[in-house]
Amino acid sequence: MYGPGGFYRRPEGPAGHFRTSVHASSLFAEAVARLLCRVDAALDRPGALAFVDMAAGRGELVGGVLAALPAEVAARTRAYAVEIADRPEGLDDRIEWLPEPPQQVTGLLFANEWLDNVPVDIAEVDSAGVPRRVLVRQDGAERLGEPVGGAEAEWLARWWPLPAEEGLRAEIGLPRDEAWAAALGSLDRGLAVAVDYAHTLDARPPFGTLTGFRAGRETAPVPDGSCDITAHVALDACAARGTARTPSGARLLSQRDALRALGIAGARPPLALASTQPAAYVRALASAGEAAELTAPGGLGDFGWLLQPVGIPDALVG
Ligand SMILES: C[S@@+](CC[C@H](N)C(=O)[O-])C[C@H]1O[C@@H](n2cnc3c(N)ncnc32)[C@H](O)[C@@H]1O
Repeated sequence: MYGPGGFYRRPEGPAGHFRTSVHASSLFAEAVARLLCRVDAALDRPGALAFVDMAAGRGELVGGVLAALPAEVAARTRAYAVEIADRPEGLDDRIEWLPEPPQQVTGLLFANEWLDNVPVDIAEVDSAGVPRRVLVRQDGAERLGEPVGGAEAEWLARWWPLPAEEGLRAEIGLPRDEAWAAALGSLDRGLAVAVDYAHTLDARPPFGTLTGFRAGRETAPVPDGSCDITAHVALDACAARGTARTPSGARLLSQRDALRALGIAGARPPLALASTQPAAYVRALASAGEAAELTAPGGLGDFGWLLQPVGIPDALVG
């Protein structure tokens, strides 16, 4: 996926294969810009305010945030896109393109659909009730390997306990907890946000969520670089690991609630507007449709938002 010629290095970028909230509507970037302004106020308006778009795709979110910021805030903003793929041509000069998060910055780090792409191992319970690592060939054929042990077994016991029932599966989120803690560690002060398909301890999916995407369709997760491979994120485990590092606490909420708190309501405009100002009515209707998509039950609205403040109060959303 990430190697030369791999899925994420292709010219079309992720947007050529699936639709994230960032692609769905500019309302999303506007909401993130509003959040950045709240972080800015909580930080007492620093001279250099960082916005870090973690796993930036082709820089769509960071570009949208810069465009939506009030001029005075934009002038103080240092915009970073952190991405494995190369910098796209023609990107706004104000955006710094980096392979790793910048260190010791002050501001907002925002990771939309990053953690679901951080690779995890998968455990499956065998006929004797023992969780074993799932091994996969390049053509997608699977078999069971060694029993899961050590830190991974501890992670399973704490975050995704597997009953001794053959065929049950768990995705061992340890590398995501570590990735999240490292990203958090790059912030001196501010707020880190991870947004993803997520589940929590009370409702883990019994057979896991591993799947592939290519050209807008769900497909078999074949590890040959031809498709995206993704699994939902145990965001509660990431939060706990992050809190060990930044004791200010963490909050998990749905995208629907997070975006509402950031002013994305999705209400239809009053019908009376249609006769008095038809153009404004049509614009407001289109915007309401986009807000509805971003907050839809069973869709993007069910995504999880993990908010983790570093050295500032948690009063940013809601
Ligand atoms: C699902 S796409 C999301 C892109 C964008 N954030 C959005 O919401 O449209 C995941 C992106 O994460 C990037 N990525 C994965 N692991 C990464 C890492 N460790 N550092 C930087 N980028 C990473 C991939 O190259 C890909 O562009």
